[in-house]
Amino acid sequence: MTQDELKKAVGWAALDYVTPGTVVGVGTGSTAAHFIDALGSIKHQIEGAVSSSDASTARLKSLGIPVFDSNEVDVLDVYVDGADEINGHMQMIKGGGAALTREKIIAAMARKFVCIVDASKQVDVLGHFPLPVEVIPMARAYVARELVKLGGLPEYRQGVVTDNGNIILDVRSLTILDPVALENTINGIPGVVTVGLFANRGADVALIGTPEGVRTVK
Ligand code: 5RP
Repeated sequence: MTQDELKKAVGWAALDYVTPGTVVGVGTGSTAAHFIDALGSIKHQIEGAVSSSDASTARLKSLGIPVFDSNEVDVLDVYVDGADEINGHMQMIKGGGAALTREKIIAAMARKFVCIVDASKQVDVLGHFPLPVEVIPMARAYVARELVKLGGLPEYRQGVVTDNGNIILDVRSLTILDPVALENTINGIPGVVTVGLFANRGADVALIGTPEGVRTVK
């Protein structure tokens, strides 16, 4: 099976976690895109979606799924999204698609976070994938210097402006042994909007796409 076929399998498997009649939290990326397509097949059974990016909003709308402003919704039953890395404690690195801030907000609103990944995203220790950090543009150089003090090698993601009008620094060379502490530390740097570490609020369920089928981890 190709990596995209594994992503498609978990995207469709996530439909099992959608409760009819509810508003669904929807992530961003190529795996989440498969979930959106799957959601399209049951669009008459759900109220609609809250979306984590302009790209996902456009895909949802193209399938006729109503998209709600997150401020109009109190709580979400479930949030379904991919990840760039996930460890055995269900902590993740996210933000490869630059949507980390909206993803983190919607994950926080949801009762259950279902992470959908192909097996290549599973790691013992987070940090091989460069850690995305969304930063207010005027703080770029300052935040980069602070990230170097933490042992990282930040790199400006050229040509990328987030849906919130900010920039992304991708931080290499981090071995993240305490993801909660690093999430809190980086989020405390003035100018950081959010870091793509999802450790304080990790996933509740992971659906892992393998050639043998979809494996569920809780
Ligand atoms: C976007 C994300 C994505 O979930 C992450 O990058 C995984 O993407 P893909 O499903 O395309 O492999 O965090 O900001």
